[in-house]
Amino acid sequence: MAAIRSVGVIGGGQMGSGIAQLGVVNGLQVWLHDSDSAALEKAQTSIYSRIQALVSKAHISKEKGDEALRNLNCTSSLEDFRQVDIVIEAIVESEEVKKKLFSQLDKIVKVSAILASNTSSISITRLASVTSRPAQVIGMHFMNPPPVMKLVEIIRGAQTSDDAFEATKLLAERLGKKTICSQDFPGFIVNRILMPMINEAFCTLYTGVATKEDIDAGMKLGTNHPMGPLELADHIGLDVCLSIMKILHSGLGDSKYAPCPLLVQYVDAGRLGRKTGAGVYNYSKI
Ligand code: CAA
Ligand code: NAD
Repeated sequence: MAAIRSVGVIGGGQMGSGIAQLGVVNGLQVWLHDSDSAALEKAQTSIYSRIQALVSKAHISKEKGDEALRNLNCTSSLEDFRQVDIVIEAIVESEEVKKKLFSQLDKIVKVSAILASNTSSISITRLASVTSRPAQVIGMHFMNPPPVMKLVEIIRGAQTSDDAFEATKLLAERLGKKTICSQDFPGFIVNRILMPMINEAFCTLYTGVATKEDIDAGMKLGTNHPMGPLELADHIGLDVCLSIMKILHSGLGDSKYAPCPLLVQYVDAGRLGRKTGAGVYNYSKI
């Protein structure tokens, strides 16, 4: 399989905008699409300002920064993805919505293109099943924030080819990441382990064991995590955490994965974390 030179990113939220930034900074042509024009504009503005910050902190040269900005193409049309070598999908964590998009993309992108999903937990095999190219469908799971975190978890669907796996691994390495490989089971590696811990932190709060501040301080200072689990949930997005717990619960069939009622209630109330200004903590004054 030829080396990847151009990337289509779909979804300009916290993950998609970070993945697009990584691509252009590492010399790839990137097309970025979001179905919400305001979200696309916000993504473009934040990528521009983060690249400018990299230049002003001398992490990259001014020439490299200018080249990165030239490599970014924001588009309202998926038709612009016809020539890309790989699409990395980073839209909402919903199997139904992702399947609809994969089926649409399959009819647009060139026959050799890889279709990758940044899903946190949804089956790659099931996403592949709605396409005519299951051997070229793969999970490429970046961690949040993508420009900073060192890992990409690569998930092989039941039919993913060795060629698609190698090309995706090479791309992740070109973006400066270490890779790990997971088979296609709910939550893969990272979220199978991380999300039950976050859910348990909600249960600890819900049952009145301790305050949110003490739960987070316990894990930060007591186990050297960079963020406490409730702070991390706000960083990830409580809607994303809940979607992952539901997939672990239904996919693994064990009641130990049942989402904590407090997590469900926060999501019902629209308290989704930093991105909405409130989650477990309040960010409105920041
Ligand atoms: N995009 C790009 N760069 C960012 C950023 C963002 N969203 N947020 C922070 N940064 C950069 C800053 O610019 C800064 O760069 P410099 O060193 O060049 O100045 C650097 O990261 C450190 O940032 P800060 O000093 O502001 O903050 P910090 O030292 O507290 O680090 C953090 C922030 C990296 C997020 C750190 O708190 C951390 O590692 N937290 C844990 C994050 C984590 O666990 N992520 C994985 C979540 S699980 C997941 O992603 C999988 C899933 O499917 C849910
Ligand atoms: P987000 O809510 O910040 O952004 C999602 C974006 O997708 C929004 O801008 C939305 O307008 C857009 N979108 C929704 N449906 C679309 C469609 N059909 N076509 C085009 N655009 C569409 O979400 P996020 O946190 O960036 O998560 C995106 C994906 O990445 C999810 O699958 C999530 O599970 C995964 N992920 C999230 C994290 C995290 O920490 N938040 C980490 C790793 C992976």
